[in-house]
Amino acid sequence: MNEKIRKRPVILDGDPGHDDAIAWVLAATADEFDIRAITTVAGNQTLEKVTYNARRIAALLKLDIEVARGRNRPLCSDLIIAPNFHGETGLDGPALPEPDHELSSLSAPEMMAKVLQESEEKMTIISTGAQTNVAALLLSHPELKEMIEMVSTMGGGLRNGNWTSGAEFNILVDPEAAYTLIHSGVKLQMCGLDVTEKALVYPEDWERIRALNNPVARIVAEWFDFFFIHVKSLGWSGATTHDPCAVMSLLHPEIFDIRDYYVDVELNGKYMRGATIADYNGILGKEANCHCVVDLDREKFVDYLIQACAKFEGWEVNL
Ligand code: BDR
Ligand code: CA
Repeated sequence: MNEKIRKRPVILDGDPGHDDAIAWVLAATADEFDIRAITTVAGNQTLEKVTYNARRIAALLKLDIEVARGRNRPLCSDLIIAPNFHGETGLDGPALPEPDHELSSLSAPEMMAKVLQESEEKMTIISTGAQTNVAALLLSHPELKEMIEMVSTMGGGLRNGNWTSGAEFNILVDPEAAYTLIHSGVKLQMCGLDVTEKALVYPEDWERIRALNNPVARIVAEWFDFFFIHVKSLGWSGATTHDPCAVMSLLHPEIFDIRDYYVDVELNGKYMRGATIADYNGILGKEANCHCVVDLDREKFVDYLIQACAKFEGWEVNL
């Protein structure tokens, strides 16, 4: 039977960022996805820089999709950025094509609302930065919750943080946004450090990507080269490939271990602000509010990433 695959309509929301960029390469090659919008949020770098990066990535991937600029600061806190990981541009490393589409005149939450209002089906939001835009959408348009199939986010960590002992970067940037999302009642899948620090891509893995020798694969390998400089200095033997987990866990859930827990976000702690706390033993007696992705088959993850990069054979990039 020649049955057409149902495509999952998605919005990509992130702060590119090397691992956001690799996540979007993966999303762009997925036959299962219909990407309806790209939205940006301040985080890895300032809003202006990550938005410019998002538009350059869209040009690289030839995505005929509107990019909308999000909030330039978290809901309540001052912005934290991560130039140590991502460089002064937020996406240091290989040259990229210049943007080839106008920036949308809508803000990211307005764009998300418009896409949800116009959609005939429920949409999935893939959030790979702070959850600021998603929270702003939920606060301004609570009636649109029912149009959200799921939010798949990279954020948090049930056992540890990476920016403070307790907090992972995306949640620490905007804990109130993460809190708003987690308590919204929207279906939430969270790829925290529990899984993303196991999603290690080793130098020999991205040499396989480079060896594909197409223009996008070469750029992905150079993103790994840059991102790994700082990650290696922290003692890792491979690149912690965080954001692609939020995409891959939708495409290939069978290679992940996903557990349901009640999770909360610490807002007030002196040391633990931004920590995500799971009620492992059900002591609070509350219903699970989060599908927590905690482990993966690393080799299959790498193979799928390589297969995605291989799809750019014959691609032309105008630099
Ligand atoms: C997260 O922080 C950012 O630097 C990465 O892009 C990723 O989204 C990992 O903690
Ligand atoms: Ca990110």
